Amino acid sequence: MQVGFIGTGSMGSILIEAFIQAGALLPEQITITNRTLSKAERLAAAYPGIQVSQSSADVLQLSEILFICVKPLEYKTVIQDLKDKTKPSQIIVSITSPVLINHLEGQLNCKIAKIIPSITNYVSSGATLCMYSDRMSEPDIELLDNLLSFISTPIRVSEEHTRISSDLTSCGPAFISYFLQKFVDAAVEETGISESEATRLACEMLLGTGKLLTVGGFNPLSLQKKVAVPGGITAEGLRIMENELHGMFNKLIRTTHSKYEEDVEKVEARFLGTDAD
Ligand SMILES: NC(=O)c1ccc[n+]([C@@H]2O[C@H](COP(=O)([O-])OP(=O)(O)OC[C@H]3O[C@@H](n4cnc5c(N)ncnc54)[C@H](OP(=O)(O)O)[C@@H]3O)[C@@H](O)[C@H]2O)c1
Repeated sequence: MQVGFIGTGSMGSILIEAFIQAGALLPEQITITNRTLSKAERLAAAYPGIQVSQSSADVLQLSEILFICVKPLEYKTVIQDLKDKTKPSQIIVSITSPVLINHLEGQLNCKIAKIIPSITNYVSSGATLCMYSDRMSEPDIELLDNLLSFISTPIRVSEEHTRISSDLTSCGPAFISYFLQKFVDAAVEETGISESEATRLACEMLLGTGKLLTVGGFNPLSLQKKVAVPGGITAEGLRIMENELHGMFNKLIRTTHSKYEEDVEKVEARFLGTDAD
């Protein structure tokens, strides 16, 4: 199977490296391009066997599955390059939440999938969110799920819930890291423990917590109950969090959703050609 990538920025290169390192793809199965070609060439030099193409249309020609890894407002240019060149048997995978499946179906005659990866996929962990157009047959879905399962747990979500699902799986690592950083900063400030020691302790804790919540039989509520015995120290800490964080996640979700709505509008305007530039 030949797989192409348009865009080898942050997420494109994470996916390519993760697929190779997990043994899902050999470098020889991969063709890539990038607007600034030297970026793609650097990645190919690190993984001999990867082919670099000059244009998106060239990558398309060589690919059965093609991942588009550019930013939302850069999609229109790429789609323009691919239009009228796709074959109905090819699968185009978009990794961008505000580009809707129907935007792509309206422009391309091939099969369309929308997959939202996460930086956690770099260590073959975390989820990828999967949404498929009606043009994807069961064997197509199986093929893609199988590829993604080398680097993640593929989870089917409805497109209607793309934003909130991405907040949890894709933005989540940044949100949780912020939380951890604040915890560590306070630990250093309040007690004088070294930053490196506090960071190591906090990171090991997060890894263990993740395992308990995925394979350890706990959910977030049952884990809190298990650790926080009534009248104990953890229970006191949770009481502070309950008071201080009240409503914070609601605000966060409202904000990410309103930014998302803006992005969808901008992408739609660009696809319909009604935007300013
Ligand atoms: N970062 C994440 O954690 C994450 C998670 C899930 C989904 N995503 C999605 O992934 C997409 C890419 O994000 P990113 O963080 O990887 O952005 P990025 O680092 O800016 O990468 C985008 C890449 O696309 C290239 N590009 C732009 N227009 C192109 C064109 N017409 N033809 C070929 N290449 C082109 C850019 O080339 P230049 O080198 O010339 O700039 C750049 O290398 C976004 O839509 C984002 O929503 C990201």
